[in-house]
Amino acid sequence: MPVPPAALATAPLPPLPHWESVPADLPGAIRQVKAALRARIAASGRTVEDVFSVAEQRVSAEVDEILAARQRGEAIWPVIDYADIEAGAVPADALARLRRRGCLVVRGHFDHDQALAWDSDLVDYVESNAFFENYRGPGDDFFSAVGSRPEIYPVYWSAPQMQARQSDRMARVQAFLSRQWKHDSEGVAWFDPDRDALYPDRIRRRPPGADSGGLGTHLDPGTLELWMTQAYQKAFRHLFDGTVEQYDPWDAAYRTAGPQYPGTTMCSAFRTFQGWTALSDMDHDQGVLHTVPIPAAMACLMLRPLLADVPEDDMCGVTVNQVFPAGERWHPLLMRALSGIPDVRAGDSVWWHCDLIHSVAPVRDQRGWGNVMYIPAAPWCPRNREYAASVREAFRTGSSPADFPGEHYERGWSNRFAASDLNATGRRGLGLE
Ligand SMILES: [Fe+2]
Repeated sequence: MPVPPAALATAPLPPLPHWESVPADLPGAIRQVKAALRARIAASGRTVEDVFSVAEQRVSAEVDEILAARQRGEAIWPVIDYADIEAGAVPADALARLRRRGCLVVRGHFDHDQALAWDSDLVDYVESNAFFENYRGPGDDFFSAVGSRPEIYPVYWSAPQMQARQSDRMARVQAFLSRQWKHDSEGVAWFDPDRDALYPDRIRRRPPGADSGGLGTHLDPGTLELWMTQAYQKAFRHLFDGTVEQYDPWDAAYRTAGPQYPGTTMCSAFRTFQGWTALSDMDHDQGVLHTVPIPAAMACLMLRPLLADVPEDDMCGVTVNQVFPAGERWHPLLMRALSGIPDVRAGDSVWWHCDLIHSVAPVRDQRGWGNVMYIPAAPWCPRNREYAASVREAFRTGSSPADFPGEHYERGWSNRFAASDLNATGRRGLGLE
């Protein structure tokens, strides 16, 4: 006689095998973890199909809403004025939309003229150091599709980048965004929303007339470690223990200390939001960023590989050392919600929850420049504190940060941002005080 689900749910669930570094036998480990996840879900009294369908219905309602809004001609991306964030006066409905969509444009984050001046200072910075003459081509696989002309500049330590990273305006927006997360739960403070780790990243300068193939739909939070390490198995615990209804994409529990599997596309830091600041005006149809603006879609992405139609040693294409792909083959419902940013002006910033599927649209014969500084929100937590040690060293020597290809163009550039130019936010972000 079958045991009623309620009785099963109170019994301890079977533990999951875990690999704190990349397993030697990857297909074998995938088969093993999938079997164990299914067994755990079954022991909770539910089926994988049932759990996936709960996650899918939640997402499906959001997709319908997005399609209807698009039909009505409404903008999909929420927009909030920087002035409202600074004044602590963000309207409740704007806040609700940010939480619902998981992405945001901050209007007027920096003055238009300030952003344009930073852009031209960046040009001076690279030209004064003969960057174009010495450029050796793309240093990693991920961006190699963009061509041999530099579009992504592997520079990290210019004055404009550091000025933006340590500015009060940046700190305020980062804190506002990180506070959307539940950072204090299960009796643990998972991160400090009011202190950012200044995660150094590159810049992009895409010139007028450029042709670009863009970047396909993908995610950045990690790869197989999301299923295979103990910390992430706990972070996604509700998906695997029969309580899928309680899955909260804004809960930082167990996400800020665990290991990442190494790879050329890895991000060592925990980012609440990815982001960039526009250094040129950009129209919405000029090869811009798109997202699937549904934070809870992560539940579908995590559960989909467990369904019976996916080969046993396949995680819907997710594997180490490559970005986490998400596309039509396994996620056609999600792809329908893919939505681009509105027109932005230099000085606006663009943000998306770290689990959102995103892409960069292709463009031919681009109108105007497409220039950005990548600056995410990476609040202080064990993972980011640990990475900050290597960032401090990279800052001191002008090296490429450890997450990026070791190109080290700036080591001999004398006009990079100096330690004496750091303010209190900069020093705190680098862990210097
Ligand atoms: Fe990405």
